[in-house]
Amino acid sequence: MDAPELNVVTGAFSYTGKYIARRLLSTGKKVMTLTGHPDRPNPFGDRVSVASFHFDDPSELIRSLRGATTLYNTYWVRFPHGTDTFDKAVGNTKTLIKAAREAGVRRIVHISVTNASEDSPLPYFRGKGLLENAIVHSGLSYAIIRPTLIFGVEDILINNIAWLLRRFPVFAVPGAGDYRVQPVFVEDVAEMAVRAADGEEDIVIDAAGPETYTFDELVRLIAERIHSRARIVHLRPGLALFLTKAIGYLVRDVVLTRAEVEGLMANLLVSASPPTGQALLSDWLRENADSVGARYASELSRHFR
Ligand SMILES: NC(=O)c1ccc[n+]([C@@H]2O[C@H](COP(=O)([O-])OP(=O)(O)OC[C@H]3O[C@@H](n4cnc5c(N)ncnc54)[C@H](OP(=O)(O)O)[C@@H]3O)[C@@H](O)[C@H]2O)c1
Repeated sequence: MDAPELNVVTGAFSYTGKYIARRLLSTGKKVMTLTGHPDRPNPFGDRVSVASFHFDDPSELIRSLRGATTLYNTYWVRFPHGTDTFDKAVGNTKTLIKAAREAGVRRIVHISVTNASEDSPLPYFRGKGLLENAIVHSGLSYAIIRPTLIFGVEDILINNIAWLLRRFPVFAVPGAGDYRVQPVFVEDVAEMAVRAADGEEDIVIDAAGPETYTFDELVRLIAERIHSRARIVHLRPGLALFLTKAIGYLVRDVVLTRAEVEGLMANLLVSASPPTGQALLSDWLRENADSVGARYASELSRHFR
């Protein structure tokens, strides 16, 4: 019998990468993860082998990737913090892409974001655009998956909206709240990623759910599902951000950044293509009404401490 093919997934102990790894294991594939936290408890036990990113040691990175057929890349930073800047994340990802090519990886499945563009004024979307371009010119066979806002148990944004709605009597929506989001379920993103690995064709495809909400509708839906009685008010974006900064001080986290608000207000988490995800956020919130937002989800604890 042939040995099962090796797939490398970045971030299998974190959020989206965990769902991709789980799917690969369920189809009998061998999985290795690259991570910045190799000492974290391994939720897959010895079924997923572990190596550090080694962005500063390309030869070690090449060694880790040798023998892999597919690299699933989820690595990125949500916002710059300390020495972890967007420029550094772009450089690290380019190192990873080059290492994959040199290691003989057949195909890269890269998780990007909707409306990624080298011309974007927002560093998150610009960095993602630069990387899409690097992948297209890498010589690797590729599938670029561009999610909107990913929801699931480990999600941060929707969870923390629910947390705020549970804990405070008032919830401040930045601006009119008429900008839109089109959330996609993490299992749908993982399924798309794993399916995309099988093809030969180079593809770029949005991962977007079947429901689109204005931000105001999203907050009201979450409030309704968790039976929050918080008053939802609209504040100037600058003032709403100031309040989230104050809350961030209390929870020792960055709750939301100015660039994230700008991205939301520019409708960047909506796809112009037909929906590709199946699961409905409205159903998921009903099923998870007791747990969503029960605890604050901290980006800084997850990635920087
Ligand atoms: N979450 C969303 O709603 C959303 C929406 C659109 C696009 N995306 C894209 O989807 C991909 C996966 O997102 P996710 O939310 O599922 O991410 P995640 O699992 O939290 O992190 C993905 C990977 O990036 C690494 N990472 C994250 N922040 C880092 C930091 N500050 N410094 C160093 N490494 C860091 C993680 O390292 P460890 O392995 O050490 O944990 C992990 O390997 C990303 O490329 C993201 O841009 C996400």
